[in-house]
Amino acid sequence: MDALTALQTRTATPRLVEPAPSGADLDAIIKAGLRAPDHGMLRPWRFLLVEGKMRAKLGELFVDALQPQTQEQKDKLLAAPLRAPLVIICVATIKEHPKVPPVEQIASMAAAIQNMSVAIHALGYGSIWRTGPVSQSNAVKHALGFSDRDEIVGFLYAGTPTFTDRPVPEHDQGVYVEHWQV
Ligand SMILES: Cc1cc2nc3c(=O)[nH]c(=O)nc-3n(C[C@H](O)[C@H](O)[C@H](O)COP(=O)(O)O)c2cc1C
Repeated sequence: MDALTALQTRTATPRLVEPAPSGADLDAIIKAGLRAPDHGMLRPWRFLLVEGKMRAKLGELFVDALQPQTQEQKDKLLAAPLRAPLVIICVATIKEHPKVPPVEQIASMAAAIQNMSVAIHALGYGSIWRTGPVSQSNAVKHALGFSDRDEIVGFLYAGTPTFTDRPVPEHDQGVYVEHWQV
């Protein structure tokens, strides 16, 4: 798939099954992520790959960290990482820098996630970028080995779509774009 087609046709795919990208495909996806723009060359990107039985462990980590009040909430957290065969936890490790505020380091990680989701699509797989309360929880960050200051920018769920790509939404460019003039 050529680059423009991949960029213009990626859609989120919530229902994902085996196989997940692996081997050379996974390397290519990570390589695309690591081509994100990066002010100050701070390299804020950390990717934790969660597969197989480790997905259930991740659900347990969510439960321990968030201490849900109801069985329904607990079951939801336990099941969350099982929604795809591969979960890539994408964390921006934030550094003090006189010219690069945290928002720019988070933006760099967001660009990396988007690069990866387009690469996943170009290779014939599917993905969805998710966050939710688990991404805001300092307890989750600590359990994963990060600090309060770091940001879980996304959980990129990846695998093979169970149905062909949903229709690509068409946007009216006029709503979003205008030539600025004074
Ligand atoms: C920062 C961020 C967080 C998101 N979190 C969630 C989420 O927790 N759950 C969800 O269903 N979609 C989430 N989304 C949206 C989906 O990834 C996806 O963009 C949305 O379903 C629209 O589909 P599309 O990307 O094909 O237009 C998030 C998107 C972004 C950019």
